[in-house]
Amino acid sequence: EKGTYPHYMLKEIDEQPFVIRNIISKYKEEDESIKLDEDIRQAMLDADRIYIIAAGTSYHAGLVGKQLIEKIANKPVETHIASEFLYNMPLISENPLFIFISQSGETADSRGVLVNVKEMGHNALTITNVPGSTLSREADFTLHTYAGPEIAVASTKAYTAQMAVLAILAVDTAKAAGIQMDFDPLQELAIVASAMETLTDQKEQMEVIAREYLSVTRNCFFIGRAIDYFVCLEGALKLKEISYIQAEGFAGGELKHGTIALIEEGTPVVAVATQEHVNLSIRGNLKEVVARGASPCMISMEGLQESDDQLVLPKVHDYLSPLVSVIPLQLISYYAALHRDCDVDKPRNLAKSVTVE
Ligand code: F6R
Repeated sequence: EKGTYPHYMLKEIDEQPFVIRNIISKYKEEDESIKLDEDIRQAMLDADRIYIIAAGTSYHAGLVGKQLIEKIANKPVETHIASEFLYNMPLISENPLFIFISQSGETADSRGVLVNVKEMGHNALTITNVPGSTLSREADFTLHTYAGPEIAVASTKAYTAQMAVLAILAVDTAKAAGIQMDFDPLQELAIVASAMETLTDQKEQMEVIAREYLSVTRNCFFIGRAIDYFVCLEGALKLKEISYIQAEGFAGGELKHGTIALIEEGTPVVAVATQEHVNLSIRGNLKEVVARGASPCMISMEGLQESDDQLVLPKVHDYLSPLVSVIPLQLISYYAALHRDCDVDKPRNLAKSVTVE
């Protein structure tokens, strides 16, 4: 039930801090270590390469998952769009593990790949919000994202939940492999939950950004580098699907290779900078578009901010910044859709789960 909320999407955005705290409690042992099925731990350890398969928003979570598993657990990962995988099959390693990420667990494109890789005799793990769903039943293992039912067509809390579970999985694998680290995902996720709350308490500010930048525009660009780039892809997808504004996410350095031709007087460009090593270069990219007339909206993180940034995110661990930086993008999309009189929870042409190929 959406209770006092005008839309499920807004309710689900607000639920994210609770979802993250729920995940922490579900994945925590009494001694504060990570609780995970021994079979999954072993499958991760045994794999010489991981193939993440997903669609849409879940694919965007998979792009972040690749970074997390490679950086934290030192294991090679490829992330693939489910609908392309069978047509553009990569070389498969000797001992692969396939990870399917799916909120619904019913996406036909992902299932098509699962059926195929099971026929090839490979191991599969499904990360889903619906245990008992088709992708969960047909895989060897399941990790639950515990986000609760997601009703709005635009995925929000499932995305952050997927990334939280991927971070926990990455650290568990690293620990099992004997890799030393000072990153405790359960503690850091608690900080993320508070940061999310700070942002969901700033709705008025997001509403103003949406009104100023997005109430009449035809298009909008999101730019970021490194892990911020993946969040930009997700921010653009959210905006497209519920406000019908043509929106694209770009890697900051790639703009000058063509896309910058689209920048006109007043074109909104949202830049996200949460990582110190790309902070200056993404700000440089923003200056390049401002010089061509763009309206800049800079979203940075505490410690990296400059005085005229539109929004400064509370500081969280670098690995987990996507869980926090996506919150303003979700809210801005929500308010942009409201300003444009769009049906937020049921955008045109879309269904909650896509069960056709
Ligand atoms: C976007 C959205 C879709 C889904 C995609 C995959 O907001 O909801 O892009 O993410 O259809 O769905 P699942 O995760 O159920 O496999």
